[in-house]
Formats: sequence, structure tokens, C-alpha cells
Amino acid sequence: MSDDVVAVPEAARRASNCSDADYQALYDRSLNDSEAFWLEQARRIEWIKAPTVAGNWSFDDRVDIKWFEDGQLNACWNCVDRHAITTPDRLALIFEPDEPDAETRQITYAQMRADIARFGNALLAMGVERGDRVTIYMPMVPEAIYAMLACARIGAVHSVVFGGFSPEALRGRIEDCDSRFVITADAGRRGGRDIPLKANVDAALDGGAPVSGVMTVRVTGADVAMTEGRDRWYHEAVAAVDDDCPCVPMNAEDPLFILYTSGSTGKPKGVLHTTGGYMVWTALTFAYAFDHKEDDIFFCTADVGWITGHSYVAYGPLACGATQLIFEGVPNYPDESRFWAITEKHKVSILYTAPTAIRALMREGPEPVKKHDRSSLRILGTVGEPINPEAWRWYRNTVGNSRVPVVDTWWQTETGGIMLTTLPGAHDMKPGWAGLPMFGVRPLLVDNDGQRIEGTAEGNLCISRSWPGQARTVYGDHARFRQTYFSTYEGLYFTGDGARRDENGYYRITGRVDDVINVSGHRMGTAEIESALVLHDQVAEAAVVGFPHEVKGQGIYCYVTTNAGVDMTADLEAELRQHVRKEIGPVATPDHIHLTPALPKTRSGKIMRRILRKIAEGDTKSLGDTSTLADPGVVASLIENRRPA
Ligand code: WTA
Repeated sequence: MSDDVVAVPEAARRASNCSDADYQALYDRSLNDSEAFWLEQARRIEWIKAPTVAGNWSFDDRVDIKWFEDGQLNACWNCVDRHAITTPDRLALIFEPDEPDAETRQITYAQMRADIARFGNALLAMGVERGDRVTIYMPMVPEAIYAMLACARIGAVHSVVFGGFSPEALRGRIEDCDSRFVITADAGRRGGRDIPLKANVDAALDGGAPVSGVMTVRVTGADVAMTEGRDRWYHEAVAAVDDDCPCVPMNAEDPLFILYTSGSTGKPKGVLHTTGGYMVWTALTFAYAFDHKEDDIFFCTADVGWITGHSYVAYGPLACGATQLIFEGVPNYPDESRFWAITEKHKVSILYTAPTAIRALMREGPEPVKKHDRSSLRILGTVGEPINPEAWRWYRNTVGNSRVPVVDTWWQTETGGIMLTTLPGAHDMKPGWAGLPMFGVRPLLVDNDGQRIEGTAEGNLCISRSWPGQARTVYGDHARFRQTYFSTYEGLYFTGDGARRDENGYYRITGRVDDVINVSGHRMGTAEIESALVLHDQVAEAAVVGFPHEVKGQGIYCYVTTNAGVDMTADLEAELRQHVRKEIGPVATPDHIHLTPALPKTRSGKIMRRILRKIAEGDTKSLGDTSTLADPGVVASLIENRRPA
């Protein structure tokens, strides 16, 4: 291997549950004896009725994906009740509040079982039935996880919406899946600021979505309006019921949750995951990627509003009976040492975070890190976007004292769990390279014509066979699911990412090859932001592209033309920025609004995004072929007025 390889640390190798030889043997079996391998792995989960078949899927024509289809189980039982029986006093959750002086909460499996059972009964009392969709719009408090698991307990399908989305965006997601119930909090607290969640829900519902029940958890004590007949307080609702709430037997292929995610076109898609395969996949990947052991304290910094918060906060760790820390706040509040203070305080052994956080903290230098004891750390993980080798090295050397393994885990909302990573005690690491496929995963690279490329190469990353954690459909729109993921390259799942492969079969993700951008690890569709911009009555046309951003990975650059007679002022720019925040949420706040009299178009009227991307990147020397432009003068003017990066 080349020089930039970092050898697996000896201590990690010795302690590991899985050696390289084990990995090889398991990986080979997962492909060559797939049925037996998966039925064996399915035993990580307790089934009410054990499955007798593993995979039954086809990526052709209809695209039909089923795993463990004759099995029955309950996800909440697997994450909670079974551990409440075997290890009732083990801590399930340690809650670290936004304010470091506020009280931490420590919740055992037994306690969590009782709390979630009450929550389940409270949902039943509100009228929630098996199969109903329930929207969850919560801050990072234990009750967010309770809400998800309480839904799973009674067979309801949750749809978590990140608290950084606006009422407009929330309404769209409530309507899309016909959700008649919402679980929220009075407000959330992040970095010393309050986020008015309940008020946002009220605003979303004012638009007319037919929601019959809203359950509100009191978190900050903020004053909120309660609508008679529709709204109820969580603490009152759970006080009125007992903690005897059976886990409903679900079929393996019954939906577990919907999670909205952005694609290159149209509205966000409601990616649907089902119960059996997802549970097996998250339990397996959690156990291996983090080399999990009983006494670990696992700290994943993701919000439950994203897939990482589903698979590696709510489901994977709890399915494995882990003790995990959840954090209400942000990495830089009250100061830049917060993650490390938490690590010291709670003796975190596995930390899982995103490159954007690592880069932001790296800018503060080593001091905030060094002043805290991090000797409990055993494994460091990263996810969400490509990590630049410099940030990787800082993470390993400064945070991990050049001692602990780093796992760079590549996966997606649609994959349900980790797909590519090195295993901490088994594999050498390569900064910037995610690594090797997880069991059952067959990655391959294809060129733009769909031809497979072998050996060391760069191409479009596809997966050629199904794995248990794969999304099954887009809620209410299977045609879109097929179209989005299976039509680009026939018979293959197309990830939307580009990747390189080295001589050892390691993969390095080069980023999205479609019109999706990744801002601070949050997936954004440029088309969505464009739709939001053109809703403004002074906007004629908009084209949105990403550009490299030192901390966020990518920033949002918007080119906007205005209607005739509208003055292109700084005020209008500010107003448009606000407008996008209102339509989508603070999470999509544009970095640059570039008002321009015209956009570069081909003679047939197509916007030349390639050129807009180059200009936003500041790479104006190599604009490529501009001969098809209808008016070449437009480009010169855009370059001249480019917004500073
Ligand atoms: C990107 C997040 C490089 C990738 C779990 C993918 C990554 C998109 C990595 C999915 C990684 C995620 N290295 N890129 N380790 N992990 N990505 O659905 O572009 O929010 O397609 O899932 O994030 O984002 P999503």
C-alpha cells in the first residue's frame, strides 16, 4: 500500500472482535452463501416468528425488495424490552443538556421500557393506530427517542422532521405522508438559543393539514398555545395511563419509518424503511463498525432528524444493548471544548461525528482538546460527507492522540446503515478513504455509459445486489423510487456518488455526481432551493449550485434573475435569504445570493450549470466549452460580479 496508509493500532487489533481474516471469511460467505449467512445474522434480533428466508429481491423492472419476509418481530422490543429483562440496570441513555450546568439524566433499560410503554399507551389514547403515520418534530432529548420507539411499539410509522426545517417544510412532510399526528416539544434548546418548535407546528397546521392530535413534551417551559381538542401535554397524557403496553407483532416487511431526504429533482422524497431487514442491518453494522463492547459509552452527535440519528442513535446501538450518550446542544457552546468536556465527563469510548464539526473544531487549534482527558476514547468515527485528509489526521492525532482507529463510514439515508468502512481492529486506514464494503455489500464502479470498470479506477458508485437495510420504496411513489435509483444503470442501485477504488479494494468517495449538495453533512437538493426562490414574487429564475466551503464542506450559491423593473439591491439579497429560510428552514440558508440580469443558457434555453458551478468555485480559467452559449457576454459579467467565496 502507498505511504499514506495508517496501520491498524496494535491495541485495537488485540482487542477487536473481528480480525482481518474473520472479515474476509464473513464477507465471502455473505456473498457466496448469502441465504445462510443472513439467516444466521438475523439471530442478532429476537423474532416473534423467526424468518425461514433471507433475501427475496429484484432490481429489474418493478424493483421489489424483501428480506426475512415470513418473520415477525417488534423493533421496540428489540431495542428496549429484551434488554430490560436481561440487563435492566444497564444505562441505555445518558442525556447531556445544552447548558453544561443543567442536570444530566441517566436512564436505565428498565426505566426506558416503562417510559416508552407509557408513551405508547398515550399515543393509543390519542387515537394512533397500527400503520398510521406520526410526524415527530423534536429537539435532541430522550423523549425524541422514546417517541420513535413508542411508535414502533404500537406499529405506527414515524416520520421525523429535523427541527431546523421551517413550518412550510414541516407542513409539506406532514401532508405528503398523510400524517394525522404530531409529536413535538414546547421548544428546543441549542447553543443557548430557543427553537420554537410548538409554534412552528401551529404555523404548519394553520395551513390546513388535517392533524387530529398533537402531543407536546415540555422541555424548556416556554409559553405555548394549546388548541383545545387537538393538543395535549405529554406529561399529562403519560400520567393518565399505565406502563403495560404490549409490543405489537409486526411483519418483517411492515414499514418502520419514513424519512424525507433531498434528491436532484423535485420535492424531498419520503424514503421508506421496513422492520426486519433494517433492524438486522443496523444491529450488525453497529456491532462491527464500532467494534462494540458491553462497557462502551457510545456518543453519536447526529440529530434524530437525520438518518444517522435513526440508525446510530435510536436503533442500532439500542438493538445491541449499548449505553449511549445523547447531546442536546452544539459543538461550540458554551465553547469549542464542549465535545471534549463531554468525553471526559462521561468517559465516552466511541465518538461518531461529522467532518464539518471536525473541521470547525480544528480551526480552534489543539488547546480546547488538550485541556480535557480523552483517555477513555477507543474509536473515532466520521460520517456524512467526504473527510479531507487534513481533518482526518487532526481527528486521529489531536483528538485521538495518534492512538485510536478512525472509521470513515460511507452510507446514505437509502442504505439504512453503514456500507463502506474499515473495521477498527482489522484494517489499515487511509485518510480520506472510507475503505471496504460491509458484509453483503457489492459495490462497483461504472462509467457514464454504464460500463463496469475494474481495478483501480474512478467512476459512478453503484451497488449490484440488495442488502437487508436497503430502503424499499419512496412513500406513495414507487415509480419515483425506481426512476431515481434503478433507471440510470439498469439492474444496479445507483448511489448518486462518485468514487475511486485503489489496488486493495478501498473506496474513496469523491462526492455527489448529481445536483445534490452536502452542506455541513446535510443533504440539500439544489432544485428544492430553486423552487423556494422562484416562489418569491420578484424572482424570475434561479439556479443553485454548491461551492467548496472550508468548514461546511459545501456552501450554497444562488444565481437569481429578477422580474422586469425590480432593483437588484443588497436589501433584496437579504430578503431572498430570509425567504429561503422561511420556505425550507435555517438549514438551507444560502451563503451567496448573486443577482444577475441573465443566466448562461444554451441556444435551446437550457441553463449551463456546469459553468455556474465553475464560477461559484472561483475556477474561471477552465470553463470548458462555451461555444453553445446563446450569449457569451453573460459569463463575463457573472465572473466580474462573482460573490467572494
Ligand atoms: C455523503 C448520511 C463521503 C455521500 C449517512 C452520500 C459521505 C450522502 C460519507 C448521503 C462519507 C455520507 N464519505 N461522503 N463517509 N457519508 N456521505 O442520506 O455523498 O444524509 O451520498 O446520509 O452523504 O447523505 P445522507
